[in-house]
Amino acid sequence: MSSKNNARTAIVTGASKGIGAGIAEALAGTGAAVVVNYREDAQGAERVVAGITAKGGRAVAVRADVSRSEDVRHLFDRAREEFGPVDVLVNNAAVAVFAPLSAITEEEFQREMTTNVLGTILTTQALAAQDDIAAASVVNVSTAGTLTHPLYASLYVASKSAVNAFTVVAAKELGARGIRVNAIMPGPSDTEGTRAMGFPGSAQEAEAIAGTPLGRTGTPDDYGPLVAFLASDDARWVTGDVILASGGLR
Ligand SMILES: NC(=O)c1ccc[n+]([C@@H]2O[C@H](COP(=O)([O-])OP(=O)(O)OC[C@H]3O[C@@H](n4cnc5c(N)ncnc54)[C@H](OP(=O)(O)O)[C@@H]3O)[C@@H](O)[C@H]2O)c1
Repeated sequence: MSSKNNARTAIVTGASKGIGAGIAEALAGTGAAVVVNYREDAQGAERVVAGITAKGGRAVAVRADVSRSEDVRHLFDRAREEFGPVDVLVNNAAVAVFAPLSAITEEEFQREMTTNVLGTILTTQALAAQDDIAAASVVNVSTAGTLTHPLYASLYVASKSAVNAFTVVAAKELGARGIRVNAIMPGPSDTEGTRAMGFPGSAQEAEAIAGTPLGRTGTPDDYGPLVAFLASDDARWVTGDVILASGGLR
């Protein structure tokens, strides 16, 4: 079975670092032209692009806040200008805070829900609005936390549970157009985001490793091959699925 990607143009949101960067690199390795989206970290995005082009791949960095419809329009316009119609979309950009219920503010609710949920909806709408794609694959990056329900993650897990539900319903709606929609649920992983939260070396990390059959946390490189498979024609019969990729943690 080949994992060659017969898709031509991929957008990976939030690809300036972490899991998104790993996914962008893996898709480029299968031959896709990749739009490396970022919100603030232009340097990080340019590093990812340079890594891809150094290996002979095609990539461009495009700034866009996925929670803003005008930015999402710009993202798809730039992708089309550079590489043509978009037939792979990876909704990876997300924000998270771990905080007790009493510390959740309306502002934080808006920030997480608009980035994690509205962002996923806006980009999927933009993909589906293209009338010149015969088939496409959307992969949403959720979290294993929607199964493990970690303490103090109520808002984050609520946002990702919405992403899981959106995935299944969008797959039903878009299937007739040949657009597949799936999600992956990563386990706790070593990224810039989790480092900023103080996760490495914490009691929570030790607990996660103890509960993971494969006995470690994830790395950004762990997710690219699965996403590349879901994006490829090898996964042509897979849609509306939410796939656990967590070393077995559940
Ligand atoms: N790491 C884990 O343990 C873990 C576990 C389960 C699931 N996940 C999921 O995996 C994905 C990646 O996580 P990560 O840990 O790699 O994240 P990360 O290191 O914090 O990186 C987040 C990325 O998202 C981008 N981003 C944030 N808000 C954005 C917005 N409004 N518009 C566009 N881009 C935006 C950031 O861009 P800039 O930095 O350029 O602003 C950055 O590239 C997320 O969906 C996360 O929920 C992660």
